Order: sequence, then structure tokens, then C-alpha cells
Amino acid sequence: MGAKKRIGILTSGGDCAGLNAVISAVVEAASKKGWEIYGIHNGTDGITEKPHSYEILTVHNFSDSPWPRLSGSYLGSLNKGVKMESLEEMSQRFAKGVRELGLDAIVVVGGDGSMNIVSNYCKGSTVQVVGIPKTIDNDTPITEFSVGFETAVQQCTTAIDSLEWTARSHNRALIMEVMGRDAGHLAMHSALAGAADVCLVPEIPYTIDGIINRLKEIKASGRNHAIIVVSEGIKTEDGSHLSNKKNLVGEAVYGGIGQYLCNEISSRYNEFQVRVTTLGHVQRSGTPVAFDRMLASVYGAKAVELLAAGEDNKMVIWKNGHVDSVDLAEVVKAGTTLLNTESDYVKAAHQLGMYIGEMK
Ligand code: F6P
Repeated sequence: MGAKKRIGILTSGGDCAGLNAVISAVVEAASKKGWEIYGIHNGTDGITEKPHSYEILTVHNFSDSPWPRLSGSYLGSLNKGVKMESLEEMSQRFAKGVRELGLDAIVVVGGDGSMNIVSNYCKGSTVQVVGIPKTIDNDTPITEFSVGFETAVQQCTTAIDSLEWTARSHNRALIMEVMGRDAGHLAMHSALAGAADVCLVPEIPYTIDGIINRLKEIKASGRNHAIIVVSEGIKTEDGSHLSNKKNLVGEAVYGGIGQYLCNEISSRYNEFQVRVTTLGHVQRSGTPVAFDRMLASVYGAKAVELLAAGEDNKMVIWKNGHVDSVDLAEVVKAGTTLLNTESDYVKAAHQLGMYIGEMK
């Protein structure tokens, strides 16, 4: 057993399924080393705000509870709706909080935005940092999978299955708008799993006529219903976003593109009645699927291994079936990972006859 450490763990950014399984894995692995684990409440707020808000987590009070199997974040997450102070001011408050709490290391469970914010905060402090990627958008760079993505795909696929029954009863074309921000991973994976007829993602331009042609083909084949999966981040046919709204950390806020498509399709083609479902935040919840829990366990164990080895400013990643780590600076530099339009997912969708936009 190496030197005893006091580590903090926090969840930051939009929640997703599997966060509690990550916390549990970190608690298990760190406890085995005899370390103390401070569960920081509400993202970095638990450190930067006064009084500091945290609780001591142990195998007994956390990992042995039902929480690791549940959605949401036991610790709470950072509320991005609150205006943030300047980076310099926040970094100073963060460094002071870390000192006051006596933390040697912090495990940050977050997406690309959180990794960026926390790695900047940590520049003014000597605390060791390891990141664990989580997001339903699966757009954290370098890693192939972030915790929460597979459960979100499952939630979307279950919704497609439900919509299929009612589409069939009413001879309708049903549009389902899913999250994912500027990346089409969630839409494409769930469209493939749910055998959708159309899948529109921000990475591939489309035309309304292209969608209508696919609907006509379906009609001509004798089928009377269709499922259209739409990523919230796609643009209108003329290439603009419906709104330029941003949240307080500068991320785009989307919503409503499904209704736009419904209006456009209905005004040009009336062989199918068209309706819209906006799936919303159910995508961030649901029972965490096995893959997310497995990933949570592997990532949690690896994060503790890295801290024990004295590593700093790293993020754990999943690549080619293995867990590894990269420098946080590399993650920050790489930005957001969009859907690769040359990937096997996109290729398969095309080969299966799904309309996925105007492929070159
Ligand atoms: O980044 C995760 C995510 O769920 C996006 O897919 C979505 O656009 C956004 O967060 C929604 O954020 P909020 O919870 O602030 O509505």
C-alpha cells in the first residue's frame, strides 16, 4: 500500500446513467488502498462555494447501498444555469477549496466541457487530477465510449420500439428528436438499433425531398408507417440553426427541429400523417445498461491506479477494447468528436436503405 491519500470525486455537467457506478468503483478501489474519499457535492461548487459541501464515502455507506445501480448522480452535478465568475477567480477559489479540504487528488467525472474547466482550475493548484469521461452525446474526444452513452442509446431504441406500434396503428410517419448536441452518435446508434427509416445527423446535410422520397419508397413497398430519427443539432434545409441560443458556458441549446421537419414534410407530401416526439431528458436516465456499468468499473479502477502511480492531468479512455489514459491537455485540444461519416455505422445505415442525408 502506497502513501495514504485523501481524494475528492465529483460529477460535472449534464447527468447520465452510470455515474453512481463510477463513484462506487472509485470508492471500492481507493478504499482498498486505505485512502479517504470525499464525495464533492454539485460539481466543483462543493469545492468553490463556502461552506464546502461534501461527504465522506466508504464502501459501507455507498458501494454497499442500492445507489451504484441507479441513474442520476448521488453527488449532484454542476448547474450550468448559474453565471460563472472569471476563470482566474474560479481557479483561485478552487485552489483555496482544495487546500482547505486537504485533498491530494480529484477524480472528475465529466464531459469535454467539464474536463476543460476543471483542468484549467487545477492549473493554480498542486492537486492531482484524473478525468473519467461521461456523456450521452459520446462526443468526448479520443475515447471511443463515455459512460452513459449506451444507456441513452437503449432509452432511444426503446422509444423507437414504442413509436413503431402506434405508427403502425395510425399509418403515420413519426419523427423522434433525440439529444446529442452537435454530434450524431446518439441518433445514428439508436436509428440502427431501432431500424429507423430515416436518420438525420448534424454531420450530413439532407433535403426535405430526400426524406419524402424515402417515405414514397416505403409507401410503394406496401408499408404504411415510418420512423424518422432526428438529431437535435441538425440545421434547417437552408443550412441554418433554428436558434442561436447558448447556455452560460457557451454551449448551443437546441430543440424544435423535429417540429420544423414535421411542418415541412406535411406541407409537401400528405400520404402519411406526420407527428413528432421530442424525447428529452429521459435519455439521461433509465437503468444503467451492462456496458455502462462495466465501463464505470473499469474506468474507476484505472483512475485510482493512475493516481496511485502519481499520474496527473490524465483522462481514462476506452480504445480498441482496452482501457488506457491520455493527457487532459490532448483531450482539451481535440475538442468535440463528431460522428465519422466514413464509419461502419454510417456505411451500414446507408447500405440498409436508411435515408441519412445527401451522401457524397
Ligand atoms: O450534453 C448532454 C445534453 O443532454 C445534450 O445532449 C443536450 O443538448 C443538453 O445536455 C441538454 O442540456 P440541459 O440539461 O441543460 O437541457
